[in-house]
Amino acid sequence: MVTSVIPVIAIDGPTASGKGTVAHRVADKLGFHYLDSGALYRLTALSAIRRGTDLNDEHALAKLAEHLQCSFQGGDIILSHENVTEAIRAEEVGNTASKIATFHAVRHALLGLQLGFRKAPGVVADGRDMGSVIFPNAVLKVFLTASVAARAERRYKQLIGKGISANMEDLLMDLQARDDRDTNRTIAPLVPAEGAHVLDTSNLTADEAVAQVLQWYAAIGK
Ligand code: C5P
Repeated sequence: MVTSVIPVIAIDGPTASGKGTVAHRVADKLGFHYLDSGALYRLTALSAIRRGTDLNDEHALAKLAEHLQCSFQGGDIILSHENVTEAIRAEEVGNTASKIATFHAVRHALLGLQLGFRKAPGVVADGRDMGSVIFPNAVLKVFLTASVAARAERRYKQLIGKGISANMEDLLMDLQARDDRDTNRTIAPLVPAEGAHVLDTSNLTADEAVAQVLQWYAAIGK
């Protein structure tokens, strides 16, 4: 099948907006592949932290990104034969990912890897710039958002659920700092793509958000 006709559903949005859960479930329902683009930035960040790479060295970070030995196996994320599914979710890794994601060379190095996820019968791509930069011809673009308070509460419950201690005030500050960085960076800033459906999930359950995305998808071409 010609790549350009393989459907892409782009789901973008800020940290903890619920897009991971929603994108995953939409992919499951449709039998589509799933691209967690944030995981690629997190894998690069984890590699850099472990190797002690200078986090201001754009060229060295881009090289790391370009040569990532990673694979996605079911729900597991493997980096150089190690299962790092949990390790990449650490707050330190997320914050580092958001810093290195401001570098053009790093974003460019991860481009080919992301495009490679476009495989039949289709892909649901989750990130910040899926609809605006990586897959501008996605058949459906969704921008999921939620209030900072709702997102901080979700993140808090997630962490506590995993037995990780968390502080609501720190989480709020972290989310705001990451939003600022993601929204105000010059390259691929976090903005709704042209033609994106904006969905505020502050008062929606994950099931309701999934149903809305599937409804938009079903309505295409009608
Ligand atoms: O979505 P997640 O929180 O896993 O992403 C980690 C970081 O990677 C984000 O804060 C963002 O800065 C960066 N990112 C990005 N572009 C994407 C996905 C993630 O810049 N498409």
